[in-house]
Amino acid sequence: MLPEALASEVVQAVPTWAAREGFENNAEAIAGAKIFASSGCTACHTYLGTGSSNQGAPDLSNEGTRGKSKQQLADYIKDPSKFGNNVMPKFGFSDEQLNQLATFLDASKGPK
Ligand code: HEC
Repeated sequence: MLPEALASEVVQAVPTWAAREGFENNAEAIAGAKIFASSGCTACHTYLGTGSSNQGAPDLSNEGTRGKSKQQLADYIKDPSKFGNNVMPKFGFSDEQLNQLATFLDASKGPK
């Protein structure tokens, strides 16, 4: 996972993400964005120019436009191997964290 210092730098980008994506009034989405920023997701995925693109992981800045429901997003993150993704780890998030991450991704419809 990301070293502590780097992860906290990514977390600092969250208010900018929220403003640019228009979810600044959605507390669940902001909580999910913080989990996304601090859990190492940006080691493989980019989001509004933050992070690095590795192992073929897609940019997630407009994941909310790809037709997955919040439940589908939560199920995917819970166990990516069930969806043929054997690169992305199973992180062991709680249901609440999965719901927050899914809300964040669902609210990510690209910068305004
Ligand atoms: C080790 C690299 C890696 C890490 C870390 C990682 N992912 Fe992924 N992720 C991938 C890859 C590779 C894919 C694409 C797999 C494919 O296309 O089949 C993917 C796909 C996804 C998708 C599906 C995108 C789509 O619509 O097709 C979501 C959602 C996702 N990741 C969320 C996350 C979240 C949230 C985290 C952190 C909790 C995370 N990923 C961490 C590698 C990673």
